[in-house]
Amino acid sequence: MAAFIISLAQSKGGVGKSTLAAQLAAACSQRGYRSKIVDVDKQGTLTAWAAVRSQHANDVAKDIDVEPGSGWRLPYITQRLSREADLIFIDGGSGQDSDFSAMTRVADLVLIPCQPTGLDLWATKALLMDNADLRDKAMVVLNRMPPRGKAAALVRHQVEKLAWPMAQQYIGNRQAFAATMGVGLSVAEVVPVSVAAGEIDRLAMEVLARVAELPLVA
Ligand SMILES: Nc1ncnc2c1ncn2[C@@H]1O[C@H](COP(=O)(O)OP(=O)(O)O)[C@@H](O)[C@H]1O
Ligand SMILES: [Mg+2]
Repeated sequence: MAAFIISLAQSKGGVGKSTLAAQLAAACSQRGYRSKIVDVDKQGTLTAWAAVRSQHANDVAKDIDVEPGSGWRLPYITQRLSREADLIFIDGGSGQDSDFSAMTRVADLVLIPCQPTGLDLWATKALLMDNADLRDKAMVVLNRMPPRGKAAALVRHQVEKLAWPMAQQYIGNRQAFAATMGVGLSVAEVVPVSVAAGEIDRLAMEVLARVAELPLVA
């Protein structure tokens, strides 16, 4: 069966694309799914993460290959990786360039991280309006959310008004995400019993539910 392809796409930078791609890949890997990452971002954040990660080989780190790629090569890369992966996460850069188009085109699911600020909501609104064709395979993911309360409810409401699919699970602003990324690891590997790991795992379950929804290819 072809691998299920998940693209982390958002024209705004610093919203958590790389963080969520790596943390989700690690959580899915821990659940037994062979996960690969393609790093389309020219900044190479996850390529750097993988380099640090390789120092933990045979230690806590699960086997997740990170391969650099560019938009026009994605159809070939994903086809090749499909032979050895169940899930392929594609981490993109900011902007809506040809890489953005390529990574959203090849995706089965497009995750659009959005932070709870006015600037992020405006940017997300513009992105969704520009890309109405992605609606059926997209999911907005609220990231760095404040604890449950008025502020969180307001942001949820504002995103709900955009009338796009939104992940039930939202991700809190938690130091564990940044700290584990910095040492080439993930919350699932370092602090498996934590609020952060629980959030990522539940988001991973939502992603995996989409895999199960795929129509069987005859
Ligand atoms: N849920 C979170 N909690 C705390 N820090 C986060 C979270 N998500 C992302 N960050 C931090 O925010 C910054 C930007 O995240 P990053 O994943 O690099 O965004 P992008 O790939 O969209 O540019 C990084 O310093 C990262 O550690
Ligand atoms: Mg990034």
